[in-house]
Amino acid sequence: MATGAYRHVAEALRQAEHAGYDEAWSMPRAYYVDPGILAEERERLFGTEWICFGRAEEVGQPGDYLAFQLCDEPLVAVRGQDGVLRLFSNVCRHRGAVLAEGKGRHNRLVCPYHHWSYDLDGKLAGAPRMEEHRSFDPAACALPQFAVEEWHGFLFANLSDNPPPLSPRLQGLSELIRNYHMEEMKLRYVADEIWHTNWKCLIENFMEGYHLSPLHKTTLHPVNPTRLCSHFPAGDAYFGYNAGYSPDLPRSNAGHPDLTEAEVDNCVMFAVPPGLVSGCGGDYSSFICIQPESIDRVRARMGLIFYGEGWTDEAVENAVVLFNDTMAEDKEVLIGLMRGMGSQHHQAGPLAPAAYEGPVLDFYRYYSRRMADPLGAL
Ligand code: FES
Ligand SMILES: [Fe+2]
Repeated sequence: MATGAYRHVAEALRQAEHAGYDEAWSMPRAYYVDPGILAEERERLFGTEWICFGRAEEVGQPGDYLAFQLCDEPLVAVRGQDGVLRLFSNVCRHRGAVLAEGKGRHNRLVCPYHHWSYDLDGKLAGAPRMEEHRSFDPAACALPQFAVEEWHGFLFANLSDNPPPLSPRLQGLSELIRNYHMEEMKLRYVADEIWHTNWKCLIENFMEGYHLSPLHKTTLHPVNPTRLCSHFPAGDAYFGYNAGYSPDLPRSNAGHPDLTEAEVDNCVMFAVPPGLVSGCGGDYSSFICIQPESIDRVRARMGLIFYGEGWTDEAVENAVVLFNDTMAEDKEVLIGLMRGMGSQHHQAGPLAPAAYEGPVLDFYRYYSRRMADPLGAL
C-alpha cells in the first residue's frame, strides 16, 4: 500500500484524539481495508494486549482445558490439580503437532501424533521410545507458558513477557458492572462464527446505539431503543455506553439483589479492546470474543451468560433466538458496509452525538494511543 494512505489514517487518528464528540468524523477507508494495517494490528494489539478467549467456568475443574488460537499461536488453557489456571503453547515439543482441540477434561495432554504427553503443569510426562536419544533432556522440554488473567468471569490471554495486569486498568469499568456480578453468571450458549467484515467494524457496530432502532426495528428496538442510550467516559483500556431497557416492557427482576433500580433498567455495553465486547444486563448478558482472521474476516466467539437458577430451557432459548436474530441483522449490514468501504468514492462521515456514536470515537482514541506512532512512522 502507498505510504500516503498510512499517513492519511495516522492523520485522521491524530484528529480523533483531539476532536470533541460534537465534531468527530469516521476513519478513512484504508483503516478498514488495508492488509498492511492488519499486520501492524496483529503485532501491536493482538500480539501484546490482553485478549479475551472465554469464560472461567469453561475450565472450572482440575483437568479442564480450552484450546484456542491467538494470532498465529495455538494456545491451551488448563486447570491444574492445584486449581490454578495456566496457559500453554498448544504445540508439541516433539515435531510440532497441535496437542488439544476444543475443550474437555483430561489428566494429561497427549499429542495425537506420537503420543508424547504433558502434565497439567506443562511438564513433559512421557516420550515413548526416546530413552536412547543422547542429547534429549525431557526435563527441559516443558510447554512454553503465557500470562492468563480472570476478570469478572472472563478469561484473558497475553502473549507478551510479564505484561502488567489487566484488572487495574479496568478499575472504572469494574465499578460500573460490579453489582451485575457477571462472575456468577452461567454460560448457557456459545458459538464460534466467522463474520465477513473487518474486526474493527464488528466492534464499532456492537458499541454504538445509533443503529439499534433503525436496523433492529423488530428485534432490539423494542428492548433497547436508541433514544435510551447514554455515553459514559472511557478509560485507558475500556469504553462503552449505557443502553436503557424500554419502560414499555415488564421489568426483569431476575438479576442480582445488589442491583439498584437504575441498574436493573440498564444494560452496560462495554468493550475491553481489542478482543472483547459485551452487553452486561442484570438477568443475562452477551459477549463476543473477537479476533481478525484476515482484513475482511473476523473470528467471533459469541456467548450468553445467565444470572441465577430460575432460567428454564425455553427462556434461555428465547434469549438465544433474540440474540441470533439481532446478530444476523448486524452480520448482513456489516457485509454491505465492507462492500461500501471497497468504493474508491467512500469518504469519512460525521459521527452522531456521544450518546449514540461516542464509543466509536473512544475506540479510535484507544487505537490511536496504541497504533498512531507505528503507523505514522511508515
Ligand atoms: S509431534 Fe507430538 S508426539 Fe510427535
Ligand atoms: Fe446491532
